Amino acid sequence: MLDFIHNIQTKVYFGKDVISHLDESLRPFGTRVLLTYGGGSVKRSGLYDKVMTILKDGGFTVTELGGIDPNPRIESVREGVRLCKENDIDVILAVGGGSTIDCSKAIATGVYYEGDLWEMCATKHGVLKALPLVDILTLSATGSEFDAAAVISNMETNEKLGSTYTYPNVSLCDPQNTFTVPKNQTAAGTADIMSHIFEGYFSQTNDSDLFDGIAETVLRSCIKNLPIALAEPDNYSARANLMANSSMACSGMPEYGKQKTGWPCHAMEHELSAYYDITHGVGLAILTPRWMRYILKKDPSCVWRFAQFARNVWGLEGDDEMALANAAIDRTEEFFKESGLPMNLTELGIDDTHFEAMAAHANANGRFALGFVPLTNEDIVEIFKASL
Ligand code: NZQ
Ligand code: ZN
Repeated sequence: MLDFIHNIQTKVYFGKDVISHLDESLRPFGTRVLLTYGGGSVKRSGLYDKVMTILKDGGFTVTELGGIDPNPRIESVREGVRLCKENDIDVILAVGGGSTIDCSKAIATGVYYEGDLWEMCATKHGVLKALPLVDILTLSATGSEFDAAAVISNMETNEKLGSTYTYPNVSLCDPQNTFTVPKNQTAAGTADIMSHIFEGYFSQTNDSDLFDGIAETVLRSCIKNLPIALAEPDNYSARANLMANSSMACSGMPEYGKQKTGWPCHAMEHELSAYYDITHGVGLAILTPRWMRYILKKDPSCVWRFAQFARNVWGLEGDDEMALANAAIDRTEEFFKESGLPMNLTELGIDDTHFEAMAAHANANGRFALGFVPLTNEDIVEIFKASL
C-alpha cells in the first residue's frame, strides 16, 4: 500500500429534510448570500421556493445567479465573480448538480484570484483561498459535494478543464431532492460514479485491501440500485445509496494507497464534452468498455485486475482469468445499455474529425503514461474510433 493523505474538509448532512440545517450552515459566514442554480429544475421541483423561504425568514440578503449550464462555462464564472464583488458576498449557496457546484467553486476562488479567470481554470494548483461555499445537492453523480475539484468549459477554445479549487464547507445531501432527476441523467450520473471508481481501481497496486473493498462495494451498490431508481424514481433507499456512492466515489478515498493512474477515461471524456457539449456520464459509459477492452488487449498481463473485478463485483466464477475479464467487460457494457444510455459516439453525432487533436490535448501533460496500462496518443485515437 502506498502513502496517502486524508484531508476532506466538508461537513455533510445526509438524509431526509436536511435542509433544516441550511440557516445554521450559512450563518457563521455572514448574511449576504450568492444563490447559484442551473437551468430551472430547482424551480420546477419546488426546492427554490423552500430555500428562498428559509433565506427570507433568516434575514439573509440574496443575490442570484441562475442559468448555469451543464458543463458550466467560464462566462458564468466571470458573472458570478462580478456579482460577488459588486454585492460584497459573504457566502455562496449552490443548489443543483455538479455543474452548479463546480461553477460556484470557481466563483468562490475567482473572487480572490488576481489575473484572468480562464488562466485560473487552466492552471493546476492546490486548494485556493475562497469564499465559503454551502451546497444543496440535487443529482448523484460527480461527488463535487465532497471534493475540491471543479471542471469548467471554454467553448471558444474547445477546452474543458478540471482543477482544484475549494471544498464545500457544508453539503446538504437529501436523497429526496433527486426524485425528480430524469432517467437519462440518473443513468448518466451512475455511470459517472462508477467511472470515478474504475479510474482508481484499475491500478497496478494490488495490496490496498480496504480501499479496493470500498471501491467494489460502491460498484455493486450502483449495479443494484440504478435499475431500482430508474423503475421507481422516488424509491428513497435506491436514491440514498446512489447519493452516498456519489460522495464516496470521487472523494479520493477509493484510490487511497494506490498508484496514480491519470484518470484516462475522464481525460478522454472531457475532450468529447469540450468539442460536442455532451453529458459527462454518457461519454464515460461509451468510452469505458472500449478502454477496458483496449488495455486488456495491449497488455494482457493486467488480466489479474479484471479477473478480480469479475469475481468481486459481478460475482462471476471460473479459473480462466481471460474469460472472466472479457465477461466482466461485456456485463459492464450491457449494464449501461440496459440503463438506456446511448452506447456509440455516432448516435451523438460525433465523428472522427477531431480525434487526433483531442488525443494530443488530453495527453498534453503526459498523464496517459501514468496509467494502469500506459497509452500513447495513437492508442487514444484507437479508443475513440472503437467508440464510434
Ligand atoms: O440545470 P438544471 O435545470 O438544474 O437541470 C440539470 C441539468 O440539466 C438536471 N438536474 C439536476 N438536478 C436535477 C435535475 N433535473 C431534475 N431534478 C433534479 N433534482 O440535470 C442536468 C445535469 O446537471 P449537471 O449539474 O450538469 O450534472 P452533473 O451533476 O452530472 O454534473 C456534471 C458536471 O460535473 C463535472 C462534469 O464534467 C460536468 O461538467 N464533473 C465534476 C467533478 C468534480 N467536481 O469533482 C468530477 C466529475 O468527474 C465531472 O467531471
Ligand atoms: Zn466524472
